[in-house]
Amino acid sequence: MAGLVTPMALRVAVTLGLPDRLRADRPAATAHATSAGLPDTVAHLATELGVDPGALELLLGHLVTLGVVERVEGGYRTTGLGANLCADAGTGLHNLLHHGTAAGRADLAFVDLLHSVRTGEPAYPLRYGQDFWTDLAEQPHLRDAFDRQMTWRIRQRVPKFVDAVDWARFKKIVDVGGGPGDLLTAVLAAHPDVRGHLVDLEVGPARRNLGDRAEVTQGSFFDSLPTGGDAYLLFDVLHDWDDDSAGRILARCAEAMPESARLIVIEGIRGVGVATEMDLIMLVHFGGRERSVEELAKLAEPHGLALDEVTEVPGDHSVLEFRKHPI
Ligand SMILES: C[S@@+](CC[C@H](N)C(=O)[O-])C[C@H]1O[C@@H](n2cnc3c(N)ncnc32)[C@H](O)[C@@H]1O
Repeated sequence: MAGLVTPMALRVAVTLGLPDRLRADRPAATAHATSAGLPDTVAHLATELGVDPGALELLLGHLVTLGVVERVEGGYRTTGLGANLCADAGTGLHNLLHHGTAAGRADLAFVDLLHSVRTGEPAYPLRYGQDFWTDLAEQPHLRDAFDRQMTWRIRQRVPKFVDAVDWARFKKIVDVGGGPGDLLTAVLAAHPDVRGHLVDLEVGPARRNLGDRAEVTQGSFFDSLPTGGDAYLLFDVLHDWDDDSAGRILARCAEAMPESARLIVIEGIRGVGVATEMDLIMLVHFGGRERSVEELAKLAEPHGLALDEVTEVPGDHSVLEFRKHPI
């Protein structure tokens, strides 16, 4: 459990593209020893990848131990297990583990978990000099990778969230921090009379997904939000933030909400069907946290938001519905 070697070996393998490079549908080179005594496939591979051949051989050796690649005549092949790490495997792993993607890069901050535990602050800025969202704004390839990750994570779960809420009672849903807008897109597809308005720092993918069914505004949820919605949606947003920032997001929602509007918060609830790993990921990447229902209700209360109803989506997040109440 405590070893760092295997996770890093897998991540470096993905970053170097080894599972793709060694997949069975690529032709194998023939085996013969080089002057350095290495099979020529490793020497060629090392030259191709710009890495040290001896070190590559050590990495491949550990990947063999893990069953991710196997030795074959003339070199190495990706196994069926290792094929899960290929870019087109459809597992989402490549986008999570590659050092050049948003998640893979952010996870490297786990080396400074001790800092986060000592201070309660994210380790990410300690490593990269600024916060995660600023990096995404400045490096479009990280933003693309993050949006792909968001879409991938709910691709099979969207119908559960569409079914979990009676969306048809709302004329207009404001999706706050809606990202690529996958849930809003599915809700609007299921309810042709409902319209949407998505707000996020980055809105390119949302514009493509939502078409003319929703307005899309590029902006911050720490600033004023669009008024006049019947529902305001925060899906996996609050857990990215510490209590102070999460409170400010809730305040902006409450200010924009008409008296009759509802706030729909969809979050993993700490201790309910959510991996404890996610608690630490939120801490290290963002200084955020998964919260209990009571903690979310307490956070919302000073902003004039009263918790009305909690619906547990089986084996998944919970839906918390808030209404406005006089402060
Ligand atoms: C974990 S993602 C969730 C996205 C979306 N709600 C979903 O569930 O797919 C959090 C989103 O918050 C957005 N975000 C972060 N800081 C923001 C800010 N200051 N204003 C608006 N959106 C922000 C990010 O760009 C990202 O799309």
